[in-house]
Amino acid sequence: MGCAISGSGLTPRTAEIRTTEHESPARLTPRHIHLIKESWKVIQEDIAKVGIIMFVRLFETHPECKDVFFLFRDVEDLERLRTSRELRAHGLRVMSFIEKSVARLDQLERLETLALELGKSHYRYNAPPKYYGYVGAEFICAVQPILKDKWTAELEQAWKTLFQYVTGIMKEGYLEEERTKRNLMLTTSTKERPDKRNTMI
Ligand code: HEM
Repeated sequence: MGCAISGSGLTPRTAEIRTTEHESPARLTPRHIHLIKESWKVIQEDIAKVGIIMFVRLFETHPECKDVFFLFRDVEDLERLRTSRELRAHGLRVMSFIEKSVARLDQLERLETLALELGKSHYRYNAPPKYYGYVGAEFICAVQPILKDKWTAELEQAWKTLFQYVTGIMKEGYLEEERTKRNLMLTTSTKERPDKRNTMI
């Protein structure tokens, strides 16, 4: 498994998203954007492979994530997943989202809309934000061997920042959807209350 990810501070300049009240905001600088775009040209040739490696690693390091997936929750032998058509398809869906994100790095408002909607759909999938942070680390471990000596600490920081940025907005989308659904339930139950009183009488 082993893949060492280096930790370091973020270098602020342009776009800024506060991931949680206590975390420092993820800021994508023009340099990050340049590095991500350049490395993506190499990564995109192997997106199916990266998608599978990323999810098998995620399930190995954080088995609790597997339970969110109806199709994979009962699979004990993770090696079997490496050849699973469903995991390949799922990995490709996630990787094509990353592809879209890279394509929108010069129009961050569009990336925000996309990530917000994705967060809302993850509320419907019952996939809570506490797990999102794990994905970036597994992505980095999966792409490092592909980029070989092109991989640098600076590039790693750029990808980390993109994942923090996207997952920060996904979390907002998730919470927004949760609030909407909760309010809807409250409205429905208050509307029902007078009827219930009537039946008591
Ligand atoms: C960076 C983090 C993540 C990204 C970018 C991402 C992206 C995606 C995308 C693009 C889809 C396809 C459907 C759609 O567009 O709504 C999807 C589906 C889904 N995701 Fe995620 N996801 C992330 C993290 C997670 C995590 C951590 C979990 C669970 C622990 C999860 C669970 C699911 C489930 C259950 C589905 C629906 C089933 C499916 O499409 O196969 N996601 N995700």
